[in-house]
Amino acid sequence: MLAIIGGSGLTQLANLDVVRREVVRTPYGEPSGALTFGVLGEQPVVFLARHGYGHTIAPHQVNYRANIWALKEAKAEAIVSVASVGGIRADFGPGVLVVPDQIIDYTWGRKSTFFEGGDTPVFHIDFTNPYDEPLRQRILAAAAAAGEAMIDGGVYASTQGPRLETAAEITRLERDGAQLVGMTGMPEAALARELKLPYAAINVVANWAAGRATSETGIRFDEIEKVLQEAMARVRRVLEALCRGEAA
Ligand code: HPA
Repeated sequence: MLAIIGGSGLTQLANLDVVRREVVRTPYGEPSGALTFGVLGEQPVVFLARHGYGHTIAPHQVNYRANIWALKEAKAEAIVSVASVGGIRADFGPGVLVVPDQIIDYTWGRKSTFFEGGDTPVFHIDFTNPYDEPLRQRILAAAAAAGEAMIDGGVYASTQGPRLETAAEITRLERDGAQLVGMTGMPEAALARELKLPYAAINVVANWAAGRATSETGIRFDEIEKVLQEAMARVRRVLEALCRGEAA
């Protein structure tokens, strides 16, 4: 069964036939909300809204460990994360969909591992390639089958939030090699790897990053909602094709 974590702009999957909702507890506390089990593209899926169904949980307050643990317990075999981002690279403008292939982590103070010492031997995950490559390819193939443009590869910078970045911070991120910026990619991806859950992301560019293009003097919040609404409709179609196992 595939798990889908929805971010800003995707607190519900309109094309999901909901079968049941389940409130779960984990050794790490409560996930962002009830797990929604349903059918998408004739396949069973489990959906979780990262920020809660009322979008009330800020990026630094998301219980990433509980979310990933709960999905593993629910027998999810892979996780597709949908997250809105700011675009840094010149061709990553609002509305563009990207399947990133790398991460730079700038978050701090988040509970970023299931390892808590005690009698458990220390383990180090390999994180050279933070996203599961076969799952990335399946997403790209589903996008092609659904006729939706999606860019293969991008370096995602995970910032702490909840504030947006300064223009100088974006310049620094770009110098570091970042091409997209969001607030929720980490530690989510690393926690999934710790539990050996294949994990990949669909990044939806909501706005130009601070100081870039139309965000030169500030982020235009009034435009973001419209962009996300339209783009998430495309994401839903891709997710449905993914579940159906379609490839172009
Ligand atoms: N920065 C960080 N996170 C974001 C942005 C941004 O510009 N847009 C959407 N999520």
